[in-house]
Amino acid sequence: MERIPEPELMEEKKQVISYDEADFSEGEVHLINQINHYLLRKNIPLGENDLIVDLGCGPGNISEKLAIKWPNTEVIGIDGSREMISRAEYNKNISTNKKKLKNLRYICSDIKDIKSNNFLIKKGISLLVSNSLIHHITNLEDFFNTIRSLSSNITVNFHKDLKRPLDEKSALELKAQCSTKYNEILTNDYYASLRASYTFKELKNFILENNLSSLDVFEEGDNYLIVYGNV
Ligand SMILES: C[S@@+](CC[C@H](N)C(=O)[O-])C[C@H]1O[C@@H](n2cnc3c(N)ncnc32)[C@H](O)[C@@H]1O
Repeated sequence: MERIPEPELMEEKKQVISYDEADFSEGEVHLINQINHYLLRKNIPLGENDLIVDLGCGPGNISEKLAIKWPNTEVIGIDGSREMISRAEYNKNISTNKKKLKNLRYICSDIKDIKSNNFLIKKGISLLVSNSLIHHITNLEDFFNTIRSLSSNITVNFHKDLKRPLDEKSALELKAQCSTKYNEILTNDYYASLRASYTFKELKNFILENNLSSLDVFEEGDNYLIVYGNV
């Protein structure tokens, strides 16, 4: 199936509310566990000198879980949508875990502009994460240039995203499954995201062709891809 890009930022209020109100917690907890296992396997502890950055943080679901899992680190969630960042701030404020989120702050910025914003880089990033971001980025080059400019040799990258279905029929089946759980706005967004996603081959080829061979890609089940490693 040919890739059909979607707008990078999620800026419409209705879209943001639908996304925020959906419960994706099972997948989010799974992602945090995957990152934790990876760090344990590599013998990389995260403590008070470490900075974790969550790119395209949306309403902050992953950022909050990172902040709670590694309470001694500093965690920054970044999103280019003012609407999403407001939602993330609101969620942090009303959270029953508010006391555990003192190490978390948000920045509203397009990921492509971060390198020029030196407010962020007071210390090197130890863990650079994203979830469901890559498919929003119109050109893969922009995503990889961003992680390259934010990473040092100590930065562990872990980026999870949807994998583009093989054909339209499979995309429509996934859309139909989504519609049984989520509202129409979210279902339509999910369908647009599936069509905008990249394939394993596209990500792998980009990595091989751009001297990024210390990164790797793996397919998780039928529907997800994970890009991980060092840049
Ligand atoms: C599908 S949401 C994922 C949110 C969150 N990571 C999660 O897993 O719940 C994608 C988010 O990436 C943000 N985004 C997309 N392109 C971006 C860019 N170029 N710069 C910053 N944020 C971006 C969107 O605004 C949106 O909030």
